[in-house]
Amino acid sequence: MKRTDQYWDASVEALSRSQLDQLQLRKLKQVLDRVQSSVLYGPRLKEAGLSSAGLSAIEDIRRIPFTTKADLRSQYPFGLVCVPKDRLVRLHVSSGTTGQATAVLYTRGDVDRWADLLARCMYMTGARPGHTFQNLTGYGMFTGGLGFHYGSERLGLLTIPSGAGNSKRQIQLMRDFGTNILHIIPSYALRLMDVLGEMGMDPKHDLELKIAYLGAEPYSEEVRRRVEDFYGIKVYNSYGLSEMNGPGVAFECPFQSGMHIWEDAYLVEIVDPETLEPVEDGTFGELVLTTLDREAMPILRYRTRDVTRILPGDCPCGRVHRRLDRIRGRSDDMFIIKGVNIFPIQVEHVLMNIPEVGNNYVIVLRRENDIDEMLVRVEVTQELFVEDMRHLHRVRKEIVRNLKNELLVTPAVELVEPNSLPKSEGKAVRLLDQRTPRKGG
Ligand code: COA
Ligand code: AMP
Ligand code: ZN
Repeated sequence: MKRTDQYWDASVEALSRSQLDQLQLRKLKQVLDRVQSSVLYGPRLKEAGLSSAGLSAIEDIRRIPFTTKADLRSQYPFGLVCVPKDRLVRLHVSSGTTGQATAVLYTRGDVDRWADLLARCMYMTGARPGHTFQNLTGYGMFTGGLGFHYGSERLGLLTIPSGAGNSKRQIQLMRDFGTNILHIIPSYALRLMDVLGEMGMDPKHDLELKIAYLGAEPYSEEVRRRVEDFYGIKVYNSYGLSEMNGPGVAFECPFQSGMHIWEDAYLVEIVDPETLEPVEDGTFGELVLTTLDREAMPILRYRTRDVTRILPGDCPCGRVHRRLDRIRGRSDDMFIIKGVNIFPIQVEHVLMNIPEVGNNYVIVLRRENDIDEMLVRVEVTQELFVEDMRHLHRVRKEIVRNLKNELLVTPAVELVEPNSLPKSEGKAVRLLDQRTPRKGG
């Protein structure tokens, strides 16, 4: 560990490319040793004839298959753990319950290294002891809460764990404690603009904000500028996913030109989502990640389903850790509302368990003022429309409640008569994405 004015840890941030490559190879060998006992990876390594002794280049990892979300689900809850249970200190579960959940478990060392990565990210953008940091993402199972929280305390910031929602209180806290740095979901940063207006406040004069970290869902360069201009701050893009700890995987430096992916902790590949062959730097493809530091649950070649590319060229900040472009989309049908991941099949499971629901439904995604919204239109039985309206309201409320329990966000729900939703030829279209394409992102 070597702290300087510029680097949280110069011993990893200021490496040359060849030093970083050597470090990765050394760590990858350790990972291969660690996963020998894994029920998933042990047999896969054996089949590929791959061991730490035989690993001569990073590219050798391509001999083993990718890990998919289905693999993680099939090993739920403890299947991928490579340490004795008494060494586990933390659990996070990614969104969803109906057979969709994936569990991520951490040792104390894992939690420590993760906190260190986030401290590194924040330090890189100018966060220093003396600053006040307010974390407006969900705590609990969401990794954005505790992940940033531990990182911020590690760095020595005054940390306000204000969590999601309760907007007026958020703003009061910012004002009373002179908050300088925010971690906030882009759509919520936009929403808070209205609340500030209602409170008659101008953040540039009434608050002491300097920096915001925006992540957990896709957003455009225009939204970044809008947030920067309104609040009078610098916005840095923050990327991560629960399967790889959470936030802290890739983060923008002061040059705001792509997110440095911390290659001492994660091995990065970009592959064509169809052929699964590697693509060249600069070409869009699916991001595939391997953990290099994790003890409790190492994951090899995880298909994130996030579509992005490596930005070619060097960053003026001097770090050789390569840079990811904005996430351009997904190679599966997952979408994100209010920072929460949703798979259409979760909606289907909920709906099909309600007797009054007919066979047809559609999820409509819309974008209002750059904020994504979800409407579920559901065909219900004809009887509901001839009966007392109260029955209809009760069913609607039940659907909303059950969806909220499953998805963790409250969708808009509209009940419609049987056969009123458009029928599709062949495979039913369950997801209507009416969001206008974002410019620059
Ligand atoms: N982040 C934080 N707060 C949000 C938000 C977001 N993305 N989207 C909406 N909110 C606020 C609303 O403005 C509202 O505030 P109010 O209390 O001042 O009225 C409050 O949360 C409830 O919003 P609502 O839209 O009625 O609730 P919901 O039931 O649909 O969603 C949330 C509930 C927002 C709490 C839930 O979606 C959530 O926890 N989101 C954050 C997810 C997260 O942190 N992801 C990061 C993963 S790393
Ligand atoms: P979770 O596992 O709940 O933390 O969600 C991770 C997912 O959120 C990622 O796989 C991405 O799809 C999305 N995500 C996280 N950060 C960003 C970001 N900065 N830009 C776009 N999408 C993001
Ligand atoms: Zn840089």
